[in-house]
Amino acid sequence: MSTTRRLTDELAREGTLTARGFADLIRGRTPESAEYLFSLASEARDRVFGKGVFMRGLIEFSNHCRNDCLYCGIRRSNRLVERYRLTPEEILETCSAGHSLGFRTFVLQSGEDPGFGPGLVAETVSRIKASFPDSAVTLSLGEHPPETYALWRAAGADRYLLRHETRNPEHYASLHPRDMTVATRVKCLRTLKELGYQVGCGFMVGSPGQTPELLAEDLLFIRELRPHMVGIGPFIPHRDTPLASAPPGSVDETLYLLGILRLMDPRLLIPATTALGTLDGTGREKGVAAGANVIMPILTPMGVRGKYLLYDNKICTGDASSACRMCVQRRMESIGREIDTARGDHPDLLRASPCAPPASMSTAGGTPAAPGAAPGPSPLP
Ligand code: 5AD
Ligand code: FES
Repeated sequence: MSTTRRLTDELAREGTLTARGFADLIRGRTPESAEYLFSLASEARDRVFGKGVFMRGLIEFSNHCRNDCLYCGIRRSNRLVERYRLTPEEILETCSAGHSLGFRTFVLQSGEDPGFGPGLVAETVSRIKASFPDSAVTLSLGEHPPETYALWRAAGADRYLLRHETRNPEHYASLHPRDMTVATRVKCLRTLKELGYQVGCGFMVGSPGQTPELLAEDLLFIRELRPHMVGIGPFIPHRDTPLASAPPGSVDETLYLLGILRLMDPRLLIPATTALGTLDGTGREKGVAAGANVIMPILTPMGVRGKYLLYDNKICTGDASSACRMCVQRRMESIGREIDTARGDHPDLLRASPCAPPASMSTAGGTPAAPGAAPGPSPLP
């Protein structure tokens, strides 16, 4: 048996590998080993979630950012960006249109915009929750103090996405300005978990300087953090950033990592990202075939869509929300999947009693297996 096949079987059985094992698995990728990995990952996902793919509506409400991440198109130093900021009313209208299209999760994303302060975010979240009590609100607003995260949680925010980007401090330093550290990022993620958010971390695949060993560090960090969601997508250079001439990440490597994540934790919520769809016309379908179970079409109003460009050639910038909604449905149906219009919470949340404390606070080592939980290995200790 080949080494990669043995490592894939071990991963499926144990939910983890050593750092060396992960690096060898990543280095040993071949079309055949990827096929094998995807088949196990797909089975593992289907045992938990069935054929459904959850849908989230992404509302990119501000492209102002105080940060200067070297890879990001809306970094502070990029003077060519036409900056915009939606009002809470415009965000609410966008949710309303999204709700009519069947969305039950709204992902509010922006740069770290001091002009849209914590109080205004809280007010916006509570208005969304009041207007659409059947819907979840996910925030993706970067790094903030614990008090701010607590304020937003109290306002009704359900989930928070904050990619860690890379767990290795030197690699992190090579992609970010001096005032940003991965230690801060990790602290934010832990705080978010303690506050009872469903938390998502993640990273870009093929960011400059990334190696299989560094990816192994990311995977072991994910294993330790135990997030509810993990978002990964290929790095894509943006022409007006310092990394403009760096090569893009590989679609195949991204797919392989999606499969690895799925085998690490069959219950994870994993999106097939827009970046994957940007590098490959059927990248999102391939992402789902590899193990993803979430798709996040863009709901941002047409007037500003083309201004939220983290990377070049982003798809959907000229398409209306209703077109994207139907487009993703067709795409999923083309691979024998269907859109699941439920809120799409993490399985842990679905069985938590309304009076129980958040799962992350109630047990030191994670939540016990639910009666009637999906069969198969339970890879997290
Ligand atoms: N290519 C791909 N992904 C990017 N992101 C930011 N810039 C790029 C880029 N050039 C990702 C980061 C960030 C998320 C919102 O988008 O991982 O966390
Ligand atoms: Fe936007 Fe296909 S999802 S055009």
